[in-house]
Amino acid sequence: MDTARPPGPRGHWLMGNVVEYDRDRVAFLRRHHRDYGDVFSYDERIVFTIDPRLAHRVLTATNRDYVTEPAPFAGSSAPGEAGETIRAWMRARRVVRPALADSVGMGMDGRFVAILDAVLDRTAGREVEVLPVMLDLAARAVAELCLGEDAADVPESLADVHAALLPFEEAGYQLPTWVPLPRNRRFFRVHRRTSETLTGLVRARRAAHTRPSSGDLLDVLLAARPAMSEASVISTLWSVLIGGHGVPAAALTSIVRELALRPGLAADLADEAGPPGGPAAVGCPRARLPLAEAVVREVLRLCPPAWTMTRVACAAVDLGGWRLRPGDEVLSVPYLIHRDPRWWPDPDAFDPSRWHAARPAPGTYLPFGSGPRFCLGAAAAMRQLTLATSRIAQRFHVRAPDAAAAEPAFCGRLAPAGLRAAFHPIEPGRTTGPDGRPRPQAGR
Ligand code: HEM
Repeated sequence: MDTARPPGPRGHWLMGNVVEYDRDRVAFLRRHHRDYGDVFSYDERIVFTIDPRLAHRVLTATNRDYVTEPAPFAGSSAPGEAGETIRAWMRARRVVRPALADSVGMGMDGRFVAILDAVLDRTAGREVEVLPVMLDLAARAVAELCLGEDAADVPESLADVHAALLPFEEAGYQLPTWVPLPRNRRFFRVHRRTSETLTGLVRARRAAHTRPSSGDLLDVLLAARPAMSEASVISTLWSVLIGGHGVPAAALTSIVRELALRPGLAADLADEAGPPGGPAAVGCPRARLPLAEAVVREVLRLCPPAWTMTRVACAAVDLGGWRLRPGDEVLSVPYLIHRDPRWWPDPDAFDPSRWHAARPAPGTYLPFGSGPRFCLGAAAAMRQLTLATSRIAQRFHVRAPDAAAAEPAFCGRLAPAGLRAAFHPIEPGRTTGPDGRPRPQAGR
């Protein structure tokens, strides 16, 4: 085995590659992928991989050879504690998984559509910034999934958490969290407030033990045997609420951009969905809405919100013949793997029909990750994104004159930067769009 570090650009003597990377992250990655191959180093600690087999191997060896990147404020664990934290989370995952499974998510379809209708109707044909609207939608949906009718103030808290986390997701490098920067203090404040809200909800639900179960995630966590501690219930709710908020909102924003750019596709989706005044295809959207599902898969291929995924080596490991040391970070890059002509014919083309044919090989399609830390909400997300795509096309003409210019922003969660759009309600029986021009016919 070669014991050398992977090759990579040396960068500036003081700043390393920070400035070049931050100038244009994807151009930086493409250039060094071309020059150095599928594995290259960024600095002494960070290595990128664009090789699907290696990405898959790193993700599946998580919890053994690698750990996930700690959240900005997770704090450092004392030796031995990290293992216990991982075991506790994996126990919680086993409780959460069935609660978010496809068949359970089906029960949430009607509520999800009602939330979507209410959020979009509120924009009433006005031009709005799309990402905040989708953040609102995703916050309401995930809060209801987790907390049912007790969700009341939680979407607002999620908006605060999202805003407080943004500076950390966007920065190319981090100062330690004990530095009393305004953004650190703000995050601690918001974190404390949201934790108090969740603690209050958990205690109130525990106290009301005679009330019939509503089947939301909190009920499932409280009924788990062996019983979960209060701290574990709260941290599990946190993880699901955060995981189910910013990422699906980014995906929904990319979907809206495609609907605005492709009126012919929107018309096909509207035909699949049924008349604009009719009900949404709740109950079994994925079987009834094959085009909507293929559109979602294609959007997640071209614009995976988690466009990189980080793992930290916890031992000396081999990565494609290169030696990594404990503490080294490996960043797999789904964005580039999904656009690699070796695995995807005509990779940059938006072509939902590619999903009618073969399934992708392991590691070549990673929007939800892979291995033991695979997205817990993947099934629920596919249901809701498919329903949302179909419902938006069924009920609205999406107009976004600047959609083509709203390119994805490669920081934090990948979403079209600054996309603005108006959702014009489609009047039943009307054959022209909001601009008076004929509506494109299905099939084009
Ligand atoms: C478009 C929708 C979504 C996408 C693309 C997505 C993507 C991902 C990815 C890539 C990961 C793994 C990150 C890694 O391995 O480093 C992840 C983890 C996670 N996701 Fe999702 N997600 C989506 C929706 C959701 C929803 C709706 C929920 C909750 C209802 C959710 C809950 C979670 C949780 C709890 C984790 C952490 C799993 C763990 O660390 O064990 N996600 N998601």
